[in-house]
Amino acid sequence: MTSPGAPLPSLLITAGPTHEPIDAVRYIANRSSGRLGIALSDEATRRGLSVRLLLGPTPLTPAHSPTTLERFRTTTDLQRLLATHLPQATILIMAAAVADYRPVADAAALVGKRRREATGLTLTLEATPDLLAQAASTRRPGQFLVGFALETRSDLLTSGRAKLDRKGIDMIVANPLETMDSDTIEATVMTRDGLVHSTAGAVLKRAFAPWLLDIILAAAAHADH
Ligand code: CTP
Repeated sequence: MTSPGAPLPSLLITAGPTHEPIDAVRYIANRSSGRLGIALSDEATRRGLSVRLLLGPTPLTPAHSPTTLERFRTTTDLQRLLATHLPQATILIMAAAVADYRPVADAAALVGKRRREATGLTLTLEATPDLLAQAASTRRPGQFLVGFALETRSDLLTSGRAKLDRKGIDMIVANPLETMDSDTIEATVMTRDGLVHSTAGAVLKRAFAPWLLDIILAAAAHADH
């Protein structure tokens, strides 16, 4: 869906959860499998596009090797990889389920294992930086940024739209909470210029990827930067 003669876009795709360490053997995570980001990477690779996939801790792997695959574990790892690679990308697809909170860094705890205390344990969590909002604030002209929004079904459209505006991105893919760690997805895609596309109910993530990639490539090609 790119216009004839136009240079092919180069995609930066993030996928999977982050793991935020509590000590050397424990972490805070979420239920993201990375399945959707991997399916998007596979589809774009199959179409001959340049794809750099940044993949979090998940046992799933791409069926088609992307141009480059790099792994991350924590939000900080992903933040560094984005700082390095975003400048070269034309499209960022931020499918990673980045933690919103992480344990406050404690260098001593990270090299050892916390002992069990009968009195319990209180963890202090700090907010992580919003990587997508950071990407939007440092973007160069011509870059197209896509985010995802996991929302309760009743708020899907209003919260998705608010997130699109708040983060300063070009497109948001809003999904109900049940999407996480599932084979299927039900999505509403909204762009900054007000375009809305919805799937016809829940579809397999493998089938959803080509549908979404068509929408992203068409919108990125026509974006008014
Ligand atoms: N995201 C990010 N950095 C974070 C948290 C989220 O870049 N620290 C990105 C996700 O990759 C996703 C989008 O922001 O593309 C929305 O994630 P979501 O968890 O739905 O939204 P939050 O910004 O975390 O807001 P809330 O949890 O309050 O709904």
